[in-house]
Amino acid sequence: MPKWLENAVFYEIYPQSFYDTNGDGIGDLEGITRKLKFIKDLGCNALWINPCFDSPFRDAGYDVRDYKKVAPRYGTNDDLKRLFTEAHKEGIKVLLDLVPGHTSEEHPWFRESQKSEPNEYSNRYIWTDQWFKKAEGFGYVAGEAERESVYLINFFKCQPALNYGFFKVAEPWQLPTDHPECVATLEAMKDVMRFWLDAGCDGFRVDMAASLVKNDDEQKTGTSALWRNVRAMLDRDYPEAVLVAEWGHPDLSVPAGFHADFLLNGHGKGYRSLARNYTLDFRHTIVGEDRSFFKKDGKGDIMAFLDGYLKQYEICKENGGYIALISCNHDTIRPAFNLSPRELAVFYGFLFTMPGTPFLYYGDEIGMRYLNLPTKEGGYFRTGSRTPMQWKAGKNLGFSEAAAEQLYLPVDALPDAPTVEAQEKDPASLLNTVKALLKLRHENADLGARSNLEILYAKKEAFPLIYRRGSLIVAVNPAERPVSVDISPVYPAKNIYATGNCRFEKGLCKMEGQSFGVWKI
Ligand code: NOJ
Repeated sequence: MPKWLENAVFYEIYPQSFYDTNGDGIGDLEGITRKLKFIKDLGCNALWINPCFDSPFRDAGYDVRDYKKVAPRYGTNDDLKRLFTEAHKEGIKVLLDLVPGHTSEEHPWFRESQKSEPNEYSNRYIWTDQWFKKAEGFGYVAGEAERESVYLINFFKCQPALNYGFFKVAEPWQLPTDHPECVATLEAMKDVMRFWLDAGCDGFRVDMAASLVKNDDEQKTGTSALWRNVRAMLDRDYPEAVLVAEWGHPDLSVPAGFHADFLLNGHGKGYRSLARNYTLDFRHTIVGEDRSFFKKDGKGDIMAFLDGYLKQYEICKENGGYIALISCNHDTIRPAFNLSPRELAVFYGFLFTMPGTPFLYYGDEIGMRYLNLPTKEGGYFRTGSRTPMQWKAGKNLGFSEAAAEQLYLPVDALPDAPTVEAQEKDPASLLNTVKALLKLRHENADLGARSNLEILYAKKEAFPLIYRRGSLIVAVNPAERPVSVDISPVYPAKNIYATGNCRFEKGLCKMEGQSFGVWKI
């Protein structure tokens, strides 16, 4: 386990929208390099950059056309190498986004694979044996290739599934995972990883990590074996490199070799119950009640989160891996959509004092809003969480010098759109709260990824939540109503952080509404 992960706090960057330095209306790698100082001052010491490789961008870059080439709109391979070098000078690690489950339909491997003449890439993707065949249980595309067969897709239509084989082979066209041509797919992906690790990157966030082997069992035995193979390569040749899964099942992904895994909105209700416990209609407005735990109305239930989380936490601990809690990501509605700055401050207090590796999505540190926008590059409802970073008042909120109509996506046009510049000047701003919380995390080893978590007070549909991290006690009361609970025989002594009014009288914790505090025992 790379030591640096113990203190890592990640900052996720959607490169399209972070900072445009060449005035074409779209963010670039040079823009990220120039903002490293901002990221460091914020308290983040690791980046995850969404795919920045050559692509027709039908799924915002998750449709890779060339794994080894930076998309010209972001710059060059040399710009990316320079970003690694400059980031490392600031003590910042950089994870790239690896998309191993599928490529773009424009990838040269797929172009070859479509040909009727058998060639090296014929089995790089998953093809049935007849053109009119329906592949039961799979998304497939027919009528597009010279080959007399249909091919499987992994996500959108533009993303043919790479062939790592089938765990349970049920048809003649399904190859087993140890078939030489399936092994070749994995080796090709390992080659991509080595290419970027040799160039200086520090690891990968792995897209749809659970999707590789088809017809897998519930435990994902086939897919897990492949990741253990990849991890063996890293442990041997790149022991400082990190793999973070987009799997949503740390109990499976960590034993499979990942150093960390996300809890995500789409996978069960647990993570979702924290800040997004609502239903949206097709206009992206909330219908019915919002029962998120971090809403001040106090209708949430922390047990909806903890019941699943604690089981996953124990498995991760046994297997030496971490759970990655996120503020949001490029697939998720921003938390400022339904939470006020005060609610966000309490949410972030929790996020940055929990074990594992927290991920902050760009712009969430200032409470950037979710904008209701038409879809862009396959974003659909996700588009509203992908708008340009809001640096300062004035033209395009400091994101770009391009004309407003040329921007990748419009900036928040409301007069009170939050900006970094304004919040830097306000000691009570969300930005300064995030900075203070991350400083607290870095100054107290007990708040790091590894140190133990023990729940001291958590009850169904009740407040507050109180937990112990080593020699520290953290208490969180997102609800508007004051609460008072006794956690004797534990007696916190010295308060080292507080948002709102909260205190301990011996073992008795008294918290005003929407407060958060950390004490030393
Ligand atoms: C998950 C990514 O986060 C998402 O943005 C993408 O559309 C799909 N995987 C397909 O690659």
